Amino acid sequence: MASLRTVLYLRVWLSAWIITTAEDNFVPRAENVHWFSLDFKTTLNWTTKSSNYTYTVLYSWDDSDWIECLYCSQLIESVCDLTNCLKPFDRIYSADVKTEPASMNHNYDPEELPHTYSGNFNPYIESNISAVKITVQAVDERTVTVNITDPLTSIHQDGKQLSIRDVLKNDLMYKISYYKSGSTGKRDIISESSMAEVSQLDAGQKYCFMVAAYIPSRPKSTQQGAWSEQRCTTGQEDVLQELSLGAWVGAVFILLTILIIVVTVTVLCCRCCQRRNKMLHTSQSSAPV
Ligand SMILES: *[C@@H]1O[C@H](CO)[C@@H](O)[C@H](O)[C@H]1NC(C)=O
Ligand SMILES: *[C@@H]1O[C@H](CO)[C@@H](O)[C@H](O)[C@H]1NC(C)=O
Ligand SMILES: *[C@@H]1O[C@H](CO)[C@@H](O)[C@H](O)[C@H]1NC(C)=O
Ligand SMILES: *[C@@H]1O[C@H](CO)[C@@H](O)[C@H](O)[C@H]1NC(C)=O
Repeated sequence: MASLRTVLYLRVWLSAWIITTAEDNFVPRAENVHWFSLDFKTTLNWTTKSSNYTYTVLYSWDDSDWIECLYCSQLIESVCDLTNCLKPFDRIYSADVKTEPASMNHNYDPEELPHTYSGNFNPYIESNISAVKITVQAVDERTVTVNITDPLTSIHQDGKQLSIRDVLKNDLMYKISYYKSGSTGKRDIISESSMAEVSQLDAGQKYCFMVAAYIPSRPKSTQQGAWSEQRCTTGQEDVLQELSLGAWVGAVFILLTILIIVVTVTVLCCRCCQRRNKMLHTSQSSAPV
């Protein structure tokens, strides 16, 4: 009798244990939690295994208390835009993604729900900078101005959309890389302003320019933004320099071929003429007979 009771107890305990573990496994944790940030628009992305749950993101800085970010509660999608919460920019933030049951008819203890911490993130130092738009204009024979448009952020302040210059201020510089059309040597210069003057160029030559945001105060891995498209001035191209060795060989080959054709045709023509003249002579001389 005692043993039967033990078996019964064991069964009840076992099934309870199985239900609990099954439920534990069942509530899916946010996975692959990553920060993405371009021009100070910062999102937290993660992946999820079930659509039956929502997610709430909390954030904190310098190990302070966890705070909720507006529009980052009970999310169905697995991304949250924290741009407007991570202020000031120059702080080390971390986030915590909590899983919640979508329907509230389960009795979950909020403390028991699974959650996933993100890594640390400092927007001021780690946000990527997109490719800038540039225009180039020759001022005189030997000077070109490069006009750089600072990329806009998604941050609005006092009714104005801030540019990366408004955020980075004097920390923002630009790296200008340029070369003379037809030559392979490149030169890099650093400009502190968004209008740069490049001087001491070779007069009348065509030059091409590329620009990337450059933030020397950052660690090396995030110092440089993406390169802009290339823009060139309309100076003359140095045609002789522009021709590669292959082009030269090709040109010589074509010239030689033409020469050979001309010589051959001339020789053949001359032979033809001589023969015809001879024949004419023969027929003329034989005619009076
Ligand atoms: C910045 O860009 C690099 C290269 O594309 C990428 O690996 C990194 O995750 C990006 N960082 C952020 C914070 O978006
Ligand atoms: C993060 O989520 C946003 C919004 O859905 C999306 O635009 C972006 O491409 C995602 N980033 C990555 C790397 O998945
Ligand atoms: C989501 O819930 C529905 C009904 O409650 C269930 O049938 C379905 O299997 C669940 N899906 C997942 C992926 O858990
Ligand atoms: C530089 O380019 C911007 C945008 O194309 C333009 O609005 C601005 O007037 C230009 N500045 C100069 C000095 O050319």
